[in-house]
Amino acid sequence: MKIHHLAQNNSVLNTFLSEIRDQKIQKDSMRFRRNIERIGEILAYELSKSLSFHEGFVETPLATKNMHLLSDAIVVCSILRAGLPLHQGLLNYFDKAENAFISAYRHHPNNDEHFDIVVEYVASPNLEGKIMLLADPMLATGQSLVAVFEALRKLGNPKETHIVSVIGAQEGIRFVEKHFPENTHLWIATIDDQLNEKGYIVPGLGDAGDLAFGSK
Ligand code: URA
Repeated sequence: MKIHHLAQNNSVLNTFLSEIRDQKIQKDSMRFRRNIERIGEILAYELSKSLSFHEGFVETPLATKNMHLLSDAIVVCSILRAGLPLHQGLLNYFDKAENAFISAYRHHPNNDEHFDIVVEYVASPNLEGKIMLLADPMLATGQSLVAVFEALRKLGNPKETHIVSVIGAQEGIRFVEKHFPENTHLWIATIDDQLNEKGYIVPGLGDAGDLAFGSK
């Protein structure tokens, strides 16, 4: 797996990251969603540089101009529900992409900290030979990404998988690296050091799904 860790330099990406982490600003859920979407747009732009392009011709009102046009068939897939604002950011740039949605939630069978990942709902086109962008804003333990990928594989083998994430924990990234095939890229805005006993990223930002859409 190739890891592309973006927030190493001063840029507007860090402004958006500061806002989504800041509990005073987080209270504005519309701003939270929009910031995640804006981060998705930056990640989309960065990952677009790794895709395949072909030469094509465009007629301007004055002349013919040769341009580079995107060749790859793209499927944007998001994990419900926290992935939705990130999905929108990706779709803003890859507007001809197909879409897939998959649900994954943590189930605590013994009412303690141990949890399993339950995948219930899968709505996806065939993935064979396509570029799959898998949107999951918080890469915490990595278990949902792995469970979701297992379910999606039944719909064909993508040519490449690009995991798109906002905040990751080292532990989760190592887990994902172990379980995803080699033709996987991880595009991640920033990486935090720790997970707490409940599997939340620290310092992180809290629960991304609740912040975007209200608590359950
Ligand atoms: N999901 C979240 O929304 N936040 C975390 O810190 C971990 C998983």
